[in-house]
Amino acid sequence: MPVNCIRPTLLSALLFATLSACSAPEPEAVSGTEANYNVELDIAQLMSLVLEPASDMLWDSGGWVLDASGYEELYPTTDDGWAFVRAQAAIVVEAGNMLALPGRAEDDDAWMIYSEGLSEAGIMAMEAAEAQDKEAFFQAGGQLYSVCTACHQSYSPDIASRFDNSAD
Ligand code: HEC
Repeated sequence: MPVNCIRPTLLSALLFATLSACSAPEPEAVSGTEANYNVELDIAQLMSLVLEPASDMLWDSGGWVLDASGYEELYPTTDDGWAFVRAQAAIVVEAGNMLALPGRAEDDDAWMIYSEGLSEAGIMAMEAAEAQDKEAFFQAGGQLYSVCTACHQSYSPDIASRFDNSAD
C-alpha cells in the first residue's frame, strides 16, 4: 500500500489523481500502477531469454552423467560453484513474479498457481545450494521441471511436446 502512495509522486501530474486512492483499500488502486511495469518482453522471450537459461544451468548442475570414464558428478564442487547456481535459482524465483505481472498473466487462476510454483521451486533450489545439499538440490530440479511441464500442458500444449523432447 505505501508503494501506491509513493509512486504517483515519482511520476507526472497525470497520475496525481491516483493519490486519492491511497486512503482507499480497494484493490483497484493496484491496477492504477499497471502502466509502470515494462512487459515488452513477451512470454516466449521471457522463457527463452530469462527462464530457460537459468533453469538449464540448474539442471546441468544436478545429478550424474555416464561418460567414457564412468559416472561423473555434475554438482558444483566449490563454494563459488554453489554460489553461482544459487544465483541462477534466484532468477527462477523472480521469473515466477515476472510471469504473474499484469500484462503477462494469462488469467487469475491456474496461471498464478504455476507462477507461484515456479518461485517456490526456485526457493527450494536456492536453499539447497546455500546448504550445498545435493539431494535437496536434485529434488528442487525435479520439482522445477514438473512446474514447467504442468504450465506448458495447460497453456501451450504445442510447446509442451517440443519442450519435453528437447529436455532429453
Ligand atoms: C506460468 C506458466 C509457465 C511456466 C511456469 C513455464 N512456462 Fe514456458 N511457456 C509458457 C507459455 C504460455 C509458452 C508459450 C509462449 C508463446 O509461444 O507465446 C511457453 C514457452 C516456453 C518455451 C518456448 C519459447 C519460445 O521461444 O517459443 C520454452 C523454452 C519454455 N517455455 C521454457 C520453460 C521452462 C524451462 C520452464 C520452467 C523452468 C517454463 N517454461 C515454465 C508458460 C509457462
